[in-house]
Amino acid sequence: MGSQYALALLEAATDAVIVIDHRGLVETANAAAERLFGYSSAELVGRNVSLLMPAGDRERHDGYIARYLETGVTHVIGRGREVEARRRDGSCFPAGLSVGRITGTDPPRFVGFIRDLTEYRQALLALQADRDRAREREADAHRSQARLLAVSRMATMGEMAAGIAHEINQPLTAISNYAHACQRFAASQPPNMEDLQDCMNEIANETQRAAEIIRELRNLVRSRMEERWARDLNDIVRQTRPLILADARTHQTNVHFDISAELPLVAVEAVQIQQLLLNLTRNALEAVEARADGNREIRIATSVAVDGDVELSVMDNGPGIDPTVEQEMFEPFVSTKPAGTGLGLAISRTIAQSHGGQLLVRPGDSGGACFALRLPRHSEATRP
Ligand SMILES: Nc1ncnc2c1ncn2[C@@H]1O[C@H](COP(=O)(O)OP(=O)(O)O)[C@@H](O)[C@H]1O
Ligand SMILES: [Mg+2]
Repeated sequence: MGSQYALALLEAATDAVIVIDHRGLVETANAAAERLFGYSSAELVGRNVSLLMPAGDRERHDGYIARYLETGVTHVIGRGREVEARRRDGSCFPAGLSVGRITGTDPPRFVGFIRDLTEYRQALLALQADRDRAREREADAHRSQARLLAVSRMATMGEMAAGIAHEINQPLTAISNYAHACQRFAASQPPNMEDLQDCMNEIANETQRAAEIIRELRNLVRSRMEERWARDLNDIVRQTRPLILADARTHQTNVHFDISAELPLVAVEAVQIQQLLLNLTRNALEAVEARADGNREIRIATSVAVDGDVELSVMDNGPGIDPTVEQEMFEPFVSTKPAGTGLGLAISRTIAQSHGGQLLVRPGDSGGACFALRLPRHSEATRP
């Protein structure tokens, strides 16, 4: 390659190209180097290249060359790396540097290619800031959703309080009665050990029943975010059953559970699904109040839909959906009830969607409404 040709190449290069000798003195600097550092080529030639480095590197650079010449061990040669470079006015900028040894010269010479990384780094920082902001927004949304869910759980609890108090009072009354009976059986001569035993068993059962209701209550009020697990919807329905039954009894309503024999697992936060189920059940209980004949029925069912999704539905024999709210009943604050919050369906739909599912409504079999949660079945690919 002729030297004219080499010079033309050097001048056309967009990267700064600087050739130094074994002492670190500049032999050549191209036009891009002049632009980048603010020195003319004439000012650079003959000066130590460490002029273009910030303090620190500047003092060490001669040592780097000497060590390379002595040991042949390279640190920067043949590899690119990011360094700080210094302009004539003293300002520094991030630069990509790669260094090669020019072969066949004695003493050796080195050629450095320097690229200004300022824009690259700014773009990187901007990207990072964007990502941080997006993550922050997501965390905010997550937090406010968690708060909303907690508040609405407390509201549901408030609405259910009467039924639940009754439900816990029942086993307590039973326990008290059995305890009196025990006293009598123990006092009789001779003591009636068999009846005593039966009574004690009943006390244990009733205690168990009250404990179960209290445990589910506590579970429901707990507001911390849960992990998503692969769960069987049937288990969640069974767990919620005592609360639903407590609520239904105060509404003089029969609840049928129509639970599919076997369901594929779904990835869910159980407390949220439980809340959705309670919201739908409350709406159903409030809807069947309108029945003058007192024949109030709710059916809670699980099944596998045709497309393989898992379905949980709540069907009632109330009057059905009021046509005036049919379009917007899933919007927050839409309610046909004098004291309704209009949040139940909105929150339920949010829960369904955040689980990758949907909340659908269709006419029920006996004139009422049927709300159905559809969830994709859990697979390895969607493992949470
Ligand atoms: N099972 C149902 N039968 C008839 N209408 C219903 C039923 N569930 C919900 N709706 C209608 O949707 C509206 C919104 O429900 P929701 O969001 O739970 O709020 P709220 O229960 O506080 O009114 C209700 O006011 C009612 O008009
Ligand atoms: Mg409601």
